Amino acid sequence: MPALLPEELVKWQFVESKVKRVLQAYAFQEIRTPIVERTELFQRTIGQDTDVVAKEMYSFNDRKNQSLSLRPEATAGVIRAGIEHGLFYNQTQKLWSMGPMYRYERPQKGRYRQFHQINMEAFGYQGPQIDLEMILMTSRIWKALKVNAIELEINSLGTSTSRQAYRKVLVEYFSDHKSDLDEDSTKRLVSNPMRILDSKNPEMGNLISNAPNITDYLDTESEDHFATLTNSLEQHNISFQLNPRLVRGLDYYTKTVFEWTTDQLGSQATVCGGGRYDDLVKQLGGQDVCGVGCAIGFERLTELVEVLSKKEQNMQPKIYIVAVGDDTELHASLLAEKIRDTNEEYAVEINMDGGSFKQQFRKADKSGSELAIVIGEEEIQQGNLGFKPLMIDQEQTTIKEENLMQEINRFFTE
Ligand code: HAM
Repeated sequence: MPALLPEELVKWQFVESKVKRVLQAYAFQEIRTPIVERTELFQRTIGQDTDVVAKEMYSFNDRKNQSLSLRPEATAGVIRAGIEHGLFYNQTQKLWSMGPMYRYERPQKGRYRQFHQINMEAFGYQGPQIDLEMILMTSRIWKALKVNAIELEINSLGTSTSRQAYRKVLVEYFSDHKSDLDEDSTKRLVSNPMRILDSKNPEMGNLISNAPNITDYLDTESEDHFATLTNSLEQHNISFQLNPRLVRGLDYYTKTVFEWTTDQLGSQATVCGGGRYDDLVKQLGGQDVCGVGCAIGFERLTELVEVLSKKEQNMQPKIYIVAVGDDTELHASLLAEKIRDTNEEYAVEINMDGGSFKQQFRKADKSGSELAIVIGEEEIQQGNLGFKPLMIDQEQTTIKEENLMQEINRFFTE
């Protein structure tokens, strides 16, 4: 991931704050989990045969020869922490987190080895209502950020019982076409045949698109769950595409899976992906508690957000203090502290290391400040200050130092 420079971070913070507000509106609470976990946790959660675990993890042995990995995703860590702290015992949870994830993928635009996710998980809600809420919540995030070029694809992978029936026909189908399978898929035919559907090898495209559809093998429970979800989405006017090939790249999903994709980001089209994982908490040694979640790729999302006006970016008003003459530097820092004491909303920069008026004003312009406060020896003696707007064509005026805050506030609110 390229370093995030201050200008880019203004946009990131804007996106972050909009997203947080939406998450709060759905009563999600923040959780922060470690970046490093035992490798075994990811193997057991995401699945040994997934690309993420088999090819993309940053793993290393610590001094006690324990294999640890940088987290490639957040769900595993949230569940591990939840089990450890008894968060799933007789209660529901709605948790979100944000932070860096690591995958050894081939870097390109929108795909990085260190990237960030906003991750949300809900535990203990059985019905499709929570699946709906996840989708509504993400949809509201797109609206809050004015991101329109984004579409929803959904599918159901069924309960583990219906998956077993599907697995059987899938193995039969791919066994009949064994000579067309690539090396990875041949291995997966035995270990995890559904992963073949997730193959990115274009030569396997035809074979995969002709494979049996999982939706034809759903049991009644999965079918009802999915039908209620799709009906509710229609009632909420959320358009979606049914995609029976959507299996997701991680092994833990059951029933609903979904992805939000865009045509604006080239090949890295998925902005958000997720689904249900009703068996996972139990598999990891916790209660028999169902879960549903999704993660937004932060870099991809911010790329879709248009450049914002200063007001939308919520940028702090900036003031530059110009100080020329003996003893004016100390006066400048006293003044700057006074402004910060009164209102921390203002970003105050003082001129350091001297320079003529002209040089200091050049620095003030460069700093992007909207207002310069000017201190000279004469001003100090008379209890005055110079007041010079920088971004509009307006002469410098003299104000009384005691009226400074009043003048600043008036300037920035007018
Ligand atoms: P995922 O589909 O692997 O799901 O990743 C979610 C999102 O993270 C992707 O849609 C994409 O926007 C972003 N992403 C993934 N890899 C990269 C990368 N190398 N560079 C930039 N962005 C990337 C999960 O991680 C699941 N844990 C989501 C989930 C939560 N399911 C249930 N709960």
